[in-house]
Amino acid sequence: MAGHIPVNGAKNAALKVLAASILFKDEIALENIPLIEDIKRMCELLGELGMEVKEKGRRSFTVRPGAKIATELPAELSQKFRASIVLAGPILSRYGTVTFFFPGGCLIGKRPVDFFIEGFEKMGARVRVSAHGDSVKYLIETKARRLMGTEIFLRAPSVTATETFILSGILASGETVIKNAAMEPEIVSLSNYLSACGAKIRGVGTPTIRIKGGPCLESRGLKYRTLPDRIEAGSFIILGALCARDLTVTDCNPLDLEALLSVLSHAGVNFKTGKDWVRIINKNGAKIPFKAFNIKTQGYPGFPTDLQALITLFLTQSRGDGAVFETIFESRLEYIKSLREMGAKIRVTENQAFIRGPTALRATNLESRDLRAGMAFILAAIIAKGTSLVHNVYNIDRGYEKVEERLAKVGVDIQRCVSS
Ligand code: EPZ
Repeated sequence: MAGHIPVNGAKNAALKVLAASILFKDEIALENIPLIEDIKRMCELLGELGMEVKEKGRRSFTVRPGAKIATELPAELSQKFRASIVLAGPILSRYGTVTFFFPGGCLIGKRPVDFFIEGFEKMGARVRVSAHGDSVKYLIETKARRLMGTEIFLRAPSVTATETFILSGILASGETVIKNAAMEPEIVSLSNYLSACGAKIRGVGTPTIRIKGGPCLESRGLKYRTLPDRIEAGSFIILGALCARDLTVTDCNPLDLEALLSVLSHAGVNFKTGKDWVRIINKNGAKIPFKAFNIKTQGYPGFPTDLQALITLFLTQSRGDGAVFETIFESRLEYIKSLREMGAKIRVTENQAFIRGPTALRATNLESRDLRAGMAFILAAIIAKGTSLVHNVYNIDRGYEKVEERLAKVGVDIQRCVSS
């Protein structure tokens, strides 16, 4: 495998800027948007709420407020992806009420919403919870005309909870302070755009963020350009380390990938970085196993949980005993069963995986449960002996645009089988 593979815009930034459109008086324009399933669902959701979403081609979209905005998130659509919950705060803070259902998304854990409910209540909202089929319905209303700024301590640095209280604080009265906030680059990117459109946000990218409430935002024609998707970039870098002679991952930001690059360098992977590229060169075509290591997933800037499945796969091809400790989601090691079927030597206790390598993998049928594990299965299939079938590729399409086309361009023998 050799050549160049471009990285698209970050799914988990674009989704939240789209949700933030609810806070604007005027139209917002977004560029470098990845054409993936979650983006399509978010655009459908905004449309159903009454926002006018237009695809302008070349990965650009515009969103403008419609005449009347609904305040209930449609259950079926919003339960397809976790990011839908980020609409709740803007709708509640702008319209004084919101109804949403327990969100869906990757099967990686319970993914509770207690931080959201507690925070809305602390900001002066009343929450009514009721059963809705096999889901839960939340009806939230502000007691006063506006949400009230307050101090919110997140018991875990949840990315979507951090984003929710940034967005909720923008129209609240007074100051909202978020403590133990998540520091992901996607949150910084969202916040920088909102600040350029009139929001008063300080401290984003640190554990304490302060938001001064004010009027609705105005873009005044300022476009949002989505930052590169660091998880997509990391996925391709690991692929390159595993089996490329000379692969350059382009349109990425190596500065957002320091946790991964530090681990790969320690393992002995040979790569160079530039301003917006990472080039992996395996002198004799990646047949030299790398040194095993231990990692623990953490919030940014630690090792990202979204690359956990991919680095576990990498460790099956490294020499010696490695360990991966998943600290964020309680069911994010399920995929290991399938890697074991392929011949990997991995033992799992609680939330830790112990991997002994290198082991040759053999092809099998794989079912992708979550989008990042689904990508790990594609990489496993690429390095395995024989032809594998990866099912449920909708989960992969949720986060990776036309992945088979981009992989085929760098020499991977991969085809999309249209499901019968
Ligand atoms: C975001 O989820 C991403 N999703 C995740 O990507 C990513 O894996 C994660 O950040 C970590 O980087 C989006 O941005 C849409 P959480 P996040 O559910 O942080 C606890 C994807 O589909 N928690 O908030 O919003 C929870 O149990 C995914 O792109 C509570 O206890 O995830 C977990 O331990 C895969 N109560 C931690 O916080 C709450 O109310 C983060 O979970 C909320 C969260």
